[in-house]
Amino acid sequence: MDVNKLLHKMTIEEKVGQLMQLAPFFFIKDLEIEVAGHVSDIGINQEKIFQSGSVLGIRNAKEMIEVQKRYLSQSRLQIPLIFMADIIHGYETIFPVPLALSCSWNPKLAYQMARVSATEASSAGIHVTFSPMADLSRDPRWGRVVEGFGEDAYLSSIFVKQMVLGYQNNDISKPGNVASCVKHFAAYGAVEAGRDYNTVDVSRLFLHQYHLSGYKTAIDAGAKMIMTAFNLVDGVPSTVNAYLLREVLRDQWKFNGVTISDYDSLHQILEHGCAEDNKEAALLGIEAGLDIEMASSCYVNYLKELIDEGQVDIKLVDEAVTRILELKNEVGLFENPYKGADPELEKQLIHNKEHLHAVKSIADECSVLLKNENVLPIKKGLKIALIGPYAQSRSTNGSWSWHGKRELNSTLEETLTKQGFTPVLTLNVESQEDISTQDKEVLKTVDIVVIAIGEDAYESGEARSKTDLSIPRKQTTLIQLTKELGLKSVVVLYSGRPLILDQVLEADALLYAWFLGSQANESISEVLIGKVNPSGKLTMSFPRNVGQIPVYYNYFNTGRPKREGIQNEFVSYYLDVANTPIFPFGYGLSYASFKYGNLEISSHELNPKETLTVTIEVINDSDVPGFETIQFYLRDYVSKIARPIKELKGFQKVWFDSHASKVIEFKISLNDLVMIDATGHKYFEYGKFAVMVGPNSEEVQSKDFKLIKESEL
Ligand code: BGC
Repeated sequence: MDVNKLLHKMTIEEKVGQLMQLAPFFFIKDLEIEVAGHVSDIGINQEKIFQSGSVLGIRNAKEMIEVQKRYLSQSRLQIPLIFMADIIHGYETIFPVPLALSCSWNPKLAYQMARVSATEASSAGIHVTFSPMADLSRDPRWGRVVEGFGEDAYLSSIFVKQMVLGYQNNDISKPGNVASCVKHFAAYGAVEAGRDYNTVDVSRLFLHQYHLSGYKTAIDAGAKMIMTAFNLVDGVPSTVNAYLLREVLRDQWKFNGVTISDYDSLHQILEHGCAEDNKEAALLGIEAGLDIEMASSCYVNYLKELIDEGQVDIKLVDEAVTRILELKNEVGLFENPYKGADPELEKQLIHNKEHLHAVKSIADECSVLLKNENVLPIKKGLKIALIGPYAQSRSTNGSWSWHGKRELNSTLEETLTKQGFTPVLTLNVESQEDISTQDKEVLKTVDIVVIAIGEDAYESGEARSKTDLSIPRKQTTLIQLTKELGLKSVVVLYSGRPLILDQVLEADALLYAWFLGSQANESISEVLIGKVNPSGKLTMSFPRNVGQIPVYYNYFNTGRPKREGIQNEFVSYYLDVANTPIFPFGYGLSYASFKYGNLEISSHELNPKETLTVTIEVINDSDVPGFETIQFYLRDYVSKIARPIKELKGFQKVWFDSHASKVIEFKISLNDLVMIDATGHKYFEYGKFAVMVGPNSEEVQSKDFKLIKESEL
């Protein structure tokens, strides 16, 4: 298709229509009745609906075909709709939530998950997924931490990249692949006090150093689209922020794909107090470089008027439309408007054996063992009881899994039983008060009580912010009960965010199980009984209490750091709790036991053109084979712009047979020592650095080296 020729045939109304995205119900079903409400809500008529360019969210292939058919029957130029949807951690076969996935420290799994998601979604006629979310957050009060890959820009970017590569698979024209739309540009994860949609105020330095890195990585990996965020950046809503959308995105990053607003976020700039009315919103949006407005009608109702009045240059609209038509062309929609949609294939793919197997093997690497006082794995023959509100729950999909059918998931009771560990007693109870005296008597006879507690799936995700992160609804009284009865207890904790764990740590063991998707409880039971050795490690620091938030591993030293063992009042600390998190970034236990040898460095001087080698021996000092993730951090001691006390620069997840030992090697080159300034440019400084290696961000061994000029050699 010659996109330029097509553009020349289009009326202004048809062009502007391409810039609007609507939900499927606008086009089908009881159009007159159903749409009347919605149409009057967003102020568009049927003619405008049938000029729109794309669809948000579609239920299945059948529905896609119906919508496209209906649309094309009324389209003068036969420009097909392009279908976009939120396929966040699986289409119908649901994978672990992204935060859990990052705890695998195995980016290959992100690629694998994106591939399966893409094949299923594509068979339903979806061409673009609104994923990955590259927003960085250090605040578990924000419910959307569940959708991200943790607190660290480096680690998160690695996962973001694999998601984009997996979805697109180098060729979005092929059925089975979908285009990736990275979101939410920019810094949405920095909402004040973790309250969703709230104000964001970050320095340009932090914006470039931390927040932008994920979006940039996605774009460098070839993501075709980017979605703006709901929040302000520098006082200007991201959706109309010309610095972000033109200077950074187009000029610095050379992005030539499509930009899209978040849901209704162009219209919402009125609420921000940044536009008087929808007409001004349309003007600001198109000037800033926003191509598609999702679920609002500022462009469709006002761009023509603005062009006629000479306030908007048609060139801006042409540029946006061209980008959208090019995307449609690349997908192959002009040759086949029903691209991908195949109800038969859809049926074969979703929830098929192979896909479920992929979920299970991925889930096996995502749960994080945080405590284990010689109770796990549960030995065969022991009598167990299973109590708690999630003992018989199938709700393991987590947020953003609207195609996933949770009724197909198994409960923990079912999966334990299948493994031959049938609980002698299962109590689907919220708290101690719900347990009868008679059941307490039975409890006394068991060897181990498995307590399934946590948050419901709808307690994290969009618009699910909280100020109290303790375990809800008195569930920890169940742990107290086991203590009172002198029983061994194992907590399985379902959640989409880090929670405050103080009372939970009274249990003998704690498995942080997140929401692991369609095979969650299959995986959890195999971990509990030792068929699977847990290998997840945290990618967000766990706070001791809410007042400590934000707490993260790559903090700055301050001018008055708290030093271990030295009593001094006037240092940076709290009177009531330690500065450190209860569980640090990178922390997680295994049934194996890993010992670290001494850290060695090939030289104490590094010349910019060469590399240093650091090595460490890691020994599996146990009879249990398993994975260990060895982490590598750097610190720049002296720099004009202060640097954090450590920054993750590499990691290796390595399999160890029982009693195996391996020498693990990391290379340091100039690239690892480069920093980003407040304008987004890279630079480096000579001087003293530290390299640190260890099993998590706190337990590290350290060696110093110097980056020297060649002339000093
Ligand atoms: C969310 C986006 C999502 C969009 C479309 C918004 O409310 O913030 O992440 O992609 O809805 O469903």
